[in-house]
Amino acid sequence: MSLPSADCLLRWYHVHRRVLPWRAAPGNRPDPYHVWLSEIMLQQTVVATVIPYFHRFIERYPTIVDLAAAADEEVLGLWAGLGYYARARNLTRCARAVAAAGGFPATLEELRRLPGIGPYTAAAVGAIAFGLPVVPVDGNVERVAARIFAIETPLPAAKVEIATAAARLGAQEAACASPGDFAQALFDLGATVCTPRSPSCMICPWCERCAAQARAIAADLPRKARRAARPMRHGTVFVMRDRSGAIGLRRRPPRGLLGGMLELPGTGLDAAPGDTDPPCPADWVEAGSIGHVFTHFELRLLVLAAEVSTLPPGLEARPPETPLPTVMRKALVAGLAALDDDDSGKKNPGS
Ligand code: ADE
Repeated sequence: MSLPSADCLLRWYHVHRRVLPWRAAPGNRPDPYHVWLSEIMLQQTVVATVIPYFHRFIERYPTIVDLAAAADEEVLGLWAGLGYYARARNLTRCARAVAAAGGFPATLEELRRLPGIGPYTAAAVGAIAFGLPVVPVDGNVERVAARIFAIETPLPAAKVEIATAAARLGAQEAACASPGDFAQALFDLGATVCTPRSPSCMICPWCERCAAQARAIAADLPRKARRAARPMRHGTVFVMRDRSGAIGLRRRPPRGLLGGMLELPGTGLDAAPGDTDPPCPADWVEAGSIGHVFTHFELRLLVLAAEVSTLPPGLEARPPETPLPTVMRKALVAGLAALDDDDSGKKNPGS
């Protein structure tokens, strides 16, 4: 089957492109800061989740110089809820390097040397912001390429084969003339037409050149090797609310899981179920348990909550709205609900 035409995909993109806040309007030059920031946010995170975060960042830090001047803790606070917090720590490091250099470099090799920029992000920023003729291969592009060429090798073994196939698509003259549009056309095709479970092949501009569609296996590709089940970890966290309504929080060590983020004090993430030694004497209420899925394990946290007259030493008193990682936000919500239920019980003993 001959290669599907890059020109045909670009024409489709000019009609169907998604309007996204980091995208330049047709004919306008993309802002490398916007492109880079969005690509970092979009790693492991879907477009709909990223949009409000992107707006908040651009409002707070209109230029990369503003971001470079920001305190790490403030950036981590604005990032809270997006997950994969190493990205936020590298974000400020990268912003400082770029601001010091007077702007982003415009080659793949130099982009790769910046903190937090791997091969995918270098290719995406290179293609979209600087017009370098490369195809960034994310999950969407992987799916489109695996289907166009009916690559049946399962992922992750198929990574190189699929990347080579994607590069063949991008080597066409029309793609090399507009690498940024071609990359974003592939993203949009993957996100809106060539979707994971039930692709809309009948409206796909590449339908007639798709080997998987010809063999009626599009929805089955790319194949994936079975993943080992995630191990389960357990822990207990303590929600303590003082008389002013503040919650006791502490900051995690700068590296590793949720590095540098605020958290509820607790037993650590590898405690035996039932290991619930509270940090101070109080009327502890069991607020149930919450679950959270991390990349490499699942976590179940028992939440205990108490009103305290003063917070134990070593904790910061913070308002309940303080930005927190999602797992800690879930635990705090459960703890506060249990305290408020408990209060109403006390106020109306007869009810
Ligand atoms: N996914 C990754 N990068 C993207 C982009 N620039 N636009 C839309 N989806 C994307």
